Amino acid sequence: MTRRSARPNLTVTLDGEDHRAYEGETILELARRVGVTIPTLCYLEGLSIYGGCRLCVVLTEGDHRLKPACATEVTGDLVVTTVNKEINEHRRRIVELLFAEGNHVCAFCVSSGSCELQDLATDHGVDHIHYDYEYPRNTVDASHPKYVLDRDRCVLCTRCVRVCDEIEGAHVWDVAQRGNEGRIVTGLDQPWGESDACTWCGKCVLVCPTGALSFKGRATGEMVHDPDVIAFLSRAREDQEWVDRKEPV
Ligand code: FES
Repeated sequence: MTRRSARPNLTVTLDGEDHRAYEGETILELARRVGVTIPTLCYLEGLSIYGGCRLCVVLTEGDHRLKPACATEVTGDLVVTTVNKEINEHRRRIVELLFAEGNHVCAFCVSSGSCELQDLATDHGVDHIHYDYEYPRNTVDASHPKYVLDRDRCVLCTRCVRVCDEIEGAHVWDVAQRGNEGRIVTGLDQPWGESDACTWCGKCVLVCPTGALSFKGRATGEMVHDPDVIAFLSRAREDQEWVDRKEPV
């Protein structure tokens, strides 16, 4: 969550309705607070903002460029359109590109039914794609005793990188290479099972939006992600819920 003013002293219009907003609040935070849905993929409450997937784009009055709602702070008298034909088309094309880039074959994926990419495709009516499939030759890392990394399903949202660094403090994950060559790696690009830094906490698996990270031995239907746990952990830490405030006797 971004730092914000103590009082909501700004007026921001979302899809024709005025709302009171805090200085420092992002468009996405405001939208969620007032019940307006903006699709996201890389964003996760409790983690730093990456702004890489561009699923959350919106339009602001006076600017023809699409902006990521998760990475754009509100300003006074801002007028925002969170959904229209153009925005929807843009989002749909992004989902299509993600499917074209990877090997997302839902019928053979352990996370089918617990996959944010699958949900986005359904929500945006993606029943076919307009691009050629790239069929990349990715690798699977099953060297860890408890978890599996299937790079065919990875959308490079970096949630695993951020949660491991910012919440667990282990920094096992990173992104190697760039562009089409980009891929998630553990340690210094060694097998996951050989990473001494991994604490086996499983947070990376819980926050993964697709089937890229899964618990070993689970079947489709059993493999459920739980990204909301990070917002809970992060709020509890901010509120110091685990600090014993009792006076010593
Ligand atoms: S959710 Fe905003 S850019 Fe990914």
